[in-house]
Amino acid sequence: MIRKVKGTRDILPPESPLWAAVEAEARRIFGGLGYEEIRLPVLEPTELFVRGVGEGTDIVTKEMYTFADRKGRSLTLRPEGTAGVARAFIENGLAQRPQPQRLYYIGPMFRYEKMQRGRYRQFAQIGIELLGAETPQADVEVIMALHLFLAALGFDDLEIQLNNLGDPEDRPRFVAGLKRELEPHREELCGDCRRRWDENPLRILDCKVPTCRELVAATTPIAELVSPEARTHVEAVERGLADLGIPVRRAPRLVRGLDYYLRTVFEVVSPQLGEGAVICGGGRYDRLIADLGGPQVPGIGFAIGEDRLVEVLPEPFKARVLGVRPVVVLPLAGEAVPAAFALARDLIGRGSRAQVEVTGRSLRAALKWATKIGARAAVIVGPDELAAGEVTVRDLDRGEQERVPLADVAARLAGPAGTAPA
Ligand code: HAM
Repeated sequence: MIRKVKGTRDILPPESPLWAAVEAEARRIFGGLGYEEIRLPVLEPTELFVRGVGEGTDIVTKEMYTFADRKGRSLTLRPEGTAGVARAFIENGLAQRPQPQRLYYIGPMFRYEKMQRGRYRQFAQIGIELLGAETPQADVEVIMALHLFLAALGFDDLEIQLNNLGDPEDRPRFVAGLKRELEPHREELCGDCRRRWDENPLRILDCKVPTCRELVAATTPIAELVSPEARTHVEAVERGLADLGIPVRRAPRLVRGLDYYLRTVFEVVSPQLGEGAVICGGGRYDRLIADLGGPQVPGIGFAIGEDRLVEVLPEPFKARVLGVRPVVVLPLAGEAVPAAFALARDLIGRGSRAQVEVTGRSLRAALKWATKIGARAAVIVGPDELAAGEVTVRDLDRGEQERVPLADVAARLAGPAGTAPA
């Protein structure tokens, strides 16, 4: 037997309809706010992520699926979506279109990570990017879009955490201060953090190892050291969100695993998934497009981990998606097949789900199958019934059945739930 690649997943029914419903909701909400879909390649030049995400990040140093193609060019399966959006923005001259540009994407990302619950090597993200607006209002809009989407799925227990990373100019000062404060305890840091000390010291703030967390808790938060402009910006974002009644919590140690961020950064955590399981991450990245050789265009956005989101979907949303039950149509003889398919077509045209029995099994076996797949009704199309212009409709919950004129049956069973026969 050939098995799937470690860290990849087969999304099977009944989970797959949940994915489709989540994506439909994302299109509805983000589309409603003026975001338009951007569909980008999964394969990008490696350099895009080295320069975009950052040379010293875990993603670039340890987690990329990078390989040489047949001509020796270094390609990478995208580990995230923002760098690709920035590349496409530059390459397609999107700066010439009306600003700001509002874009969303849904699709697979790849990171060679250590496997654990909620962490896969191929995973899907749903993300939005707002390009060409540097005001705090833009940040408010993006976080509102996130909140609206999560609320539409029925979430009420998720917490949005936010921090101020300041501007890149603030960073050397902050890093120097952090190192000064941590220097006496350098040997107590975990192995990863001792490596981060030189490569990416900001990430020490984000370490999950308890001893590191304790040491970090005693250091001065980054937001206390940022420029007045950055401070004013993020405070305006917080006020804007408070005005909308969107709760966010300041998380003074929150840093993100990608280098392009400045000022506003945020994450959404689920109490159900525990410590490491962040459902969404995002922030402002005003230098990324210029750093990749494009115009000076600011941006802000986020990406939701769809695998993790689906894992903690509220029950009422799941019930709404999975509660739609089909009708089965059972032709009892060859001559009943066209009428059975015609009826199925009529039913789906009216918003129902309908499946025709095609294996040729007996009526008894077909009814058993219908119950097993959760059908709400079976429409039996037999030769006698057909001759009389009728069918038998069997309510599979009550086990009652009755003859109904063929012309009335689709209307009778129409809609996602339909009306059970009296
Ligand atoms: P990120 O925090 O690296 O940000 O990823 C965003 C989300 O993707 C995470 O919060 C998580 O839910 C999900 N995710 C990441 N890695 C995995 C994994 N191995 N398995 C399952 N889920 C995962 C970004 O990617 C940025 N591009 C977000 C952004 C957009 N910032 C601005 N615009």
